[in-house]
Amino acid sequence: MNMKIKINENYKNLKKSYLFSEIAKRVKAYSEENPSAKIIRLGIGDVTLPLTRSVTEAMTKAVAEMGERETFHGYAPDNGYDFLREAISRHYKRFGVDIPVEEISVSDGAKSDVGNITELFGDNPVLIPDPVYPVYYDSNVMSGRRISFIRADETNGFLPMPEGLSGEGYIIYLCSPNNPTGAVYDHASLKRWVDFAVSTGSLILYDSAYEAYIHGNFPHTIYEIEGARACAIEICSFSKTAGFTGTRCSWTVVPSELSAGGMSLREMWERRQATKFNGVPYVVQRGAEAALSDTGYAECMELVGYYMKNAALIAGVLREKGIFFTGGTSSPYIWMRCPSGMDSWSFFDSLLHGIQVVGTPGAGFGECGEGYFRLTSFGSREATEEAVARLRGFLQ
Ligand code: MLT
Repeated sequence: MNMKIKINENYKNLKKSYLFSEIAKRVKAYSEENPSAKIIRLGIGDVTLPLTRSVTEAMTKAVAEMGERETFHGYAPDNGYDFLREAISRHYKRFGVDIPVEEISVSDGAKSDVGNITELFGDNPVLIPDPVYPVYYDSNVMSGRRISFIRADETNGFLPMPEGLSGEGYIIYLCSPNNPTGAVYDHASLKRWVDFAVSTGSLILYDSAYEAYIHGNFPHTIYEIEGARACAIEICSFSKTAGFTGTRCSWTVVPSELSAGGMSLREMWERRQATKFNGVPYVVQRGAEAALSDTGYAECMELVGYYMKNAALIAGVLREKGIFFTGGTSSPYIWMRCPSGMDSWSFFDSLLHGIQVVGTPGAGFGECGEGYFRLTSFGSREATEEAVARLRGFLQ
């Protein structure tokens, strides 16, 4: 039936499928045609190690509380329980940064917050690095924004800088360590972005979902940079740090200093969340709190260490074959150039059909990603070793 309602026409401007849905579709089709194929999935960055002991103990205790009348919890507070917001605030002190509890709001995932926060803004020009996590682009297409790309390529080490940009009032997305390239801004380069944002009255949306993977002296949070409180919102996640991809918990920091059009952005975000979101379950928030305790955090760092060993194995075979790549040192992703000048979807197909290894075509992260390919180190050690052995035989 052709209904009479009007739709959001912007949806017509989206690619037919979300990147990781498209990959899942192709892998499903291949596996249906080849039911005995042993497929190794190094595509979507989904963790494989279980939740840590601190987290499961805290969650088990919380489940028991939920089963007793005296300790049962109903709706969570809009911005998260104070015990978790306080734990997040203390976590920032690990990086020498003070974030007041009231600036932290807990949510069910960085992906949700990255998409939902666009509702706060009007018709601003949007700057999105290319290549980058596709949610930034897709969510701005959905709301019909004017999008410009900032090129990240081998010439700038996949770290675009603001020099040469003119204009004001931008919404700027930065992701460091970057998904997919693994490139990380150092303090000096991030300062240049902060200065640019302050001088042009722009807002940086800073995605620090991979900060736990940083190795060396790089900022873990944009608030390590002077001036950032005046221009940046930070979104971070428990998914990759504590293995919460299936458990769902994240947070967003909106500093009190941020205001535009006579409105406080923090109050707007709280208003949005209070209306459209009913909070992260108590049990999950207790688990997240435990992940940030000293013991819990040390356990998380063991997870990170495990995945980084996988990254080193993947990096090793690429080095052996003389294939250019970035990432894998401060990031769980390896970003490699496709061999023999192949385009990234052809390389995807050749790996899937040739050695049954799934990765993510670089073109899915933006035009500048064409000719590159992302492999994740979130697989099990066994699967990663097997993938590396297959790649060793397959790559020239
Ligand atoms: C990725 O593979 O890029 C991520 O897992 C996607 C996500 O975090 O939503």
